[in-house]
Amino acid sequence: MKNEKNRKLTQAKNLKKDEFYTQLEDIEQELRHYKKHFKNKVVYCNCDDPRVSNFFKYFSLNFEKLGLKKLITTCYKNQNMDLFSQNKSEKAIYLEYEGDKNNNQIPDPEEIGIKSLNGDGDFRSEEAIKLLKQSDIVVTNPPFSLFRPYVAQLFEYNKKFLIIGHQNQIKYKETFKLIKENKMWMGYGFKGNAAHFINNHYTDYATAGDHKEGMIRVSGVTWLTNLDHTKRHEDLILYKKYNTDDYRKYDNYDAINVDKTKDIPMNYKGVMGVPITFMYKYNPDQFEILGMTSGRNEFEAVPTKKYLNPIQHNTDGSKINGSKANTSAAILWKKKPDGVYYTADKVKGYLTILYTRFLIKNKKLK
Ligand SMILES: C[S@@+](CC[C@H](N)C(=O)[O-])C[C@H]1O[C@@H](n2cnc3c(N)ncnc32)[C@H](O)[C@@H]1O
Repeated sequence: MKNEKNRKLTQAKNLKKDEFYTQLEDIEQELRHYKKHFKNKVVYCNCDDPRVSNFFKYFSLNFEKLGLKKLITTCYKNQNMDLFSQNKSEKAIYLEYEGDKNNNQIPDPEEIGIKSLNGDGDFRSEEAIKLLKQSDIVVTNPPFSLFRPYVAQLFEYNKKFLIIGHQNQIKYKETFKLIKENKMWMGYGFKGNAAHFINNHYTDYATAGDHKEGMIRVSGVTWLTNLDHTKRHEDLILYKKYNTDDYRKYDNYDAINVDKTKDIPMNYKGVMGVPITFMYKYNPDQFEILGMTSGRNEFEAVPTKKYLNPIQHNTDGSKINGSKANTSAAILWKKKPDGVYYTADKVKGYLTILYTRFLIKNKKLK
């Protein structure tokens, strides 16, 4: 009984986290780079109430301009959502639009004809999958808490897609594999990799200058897609030369460290560790992604050593278990560094650890 209550509470919390809505201008900004992909295509927005969603607005307004064949949207309805959702439905609904009813205006979903679904409209439900099968390209901002199953389903049904996600989600084991194999990549992205979403149920912690009423600012948001676009074929211009002072070798990975993507040395042939934001500049003709530093073999970057009894030394003098040294790339220093550092058995010196690094190689240097 208690477990059931907890499960419902967690579900309600997740649903609340998932209830924020994308602005029309952000959709327009990104979609303008993909126009050629939409001609004669069936677009499916499977997390969208057409009466609220700006994805429905964008595609219905631009239906003729893009040459779409059909637009389908489905709206999820869960009884726990009533408290915080802008979703107006009593029931889960769907809508199919085939154009020519808008006179260059956004058509009224009620006039087009909203139809009821039998189930709750979950993107994994039989009814939603039937609609998914009819569609060519899925475009939406899916629920953050269901990112893994959402992406898995897109691949299971072999769909083209353009969706909103978070840059940390590219570190998930399943997503990283898709990124590494060039089956999914970043879109053009949001300005400064942050966006405001429409939401009335959050305290917005954005700084005063960035605060917008009824909105939540989320940093690290990104578009993820398997639709080709021009930017991912542009070479990153490299201007720095490799030297051993600026580019330290990791103590536990066979690679050099590069702190900023723009500082990738132009003449280094070996393996380099770069921050995950490198993905915004990634051109698969220029670089190859080899793995990710995580200490786990499934990320295809195997550490060259495992630290024994690692200890983390905090700035206040306290010491704790330093196992993080075994799940990150580490740099070895002779002198004690400022800030947090690590020690371990048989390590002569002091270690500092880095945020997750993608290990890459320049394909153009042989
Ligand atoms: C981040 S919001 C984005 C809404 C809309 N796509 C937009 O961008 O404005 C995610 C939406 O997914 C819906 N949702 C949550 N769980 C779902 C599920 N299992 N299947 C389909 N939609 C779901 C939520 O109700 C929410 O409206």
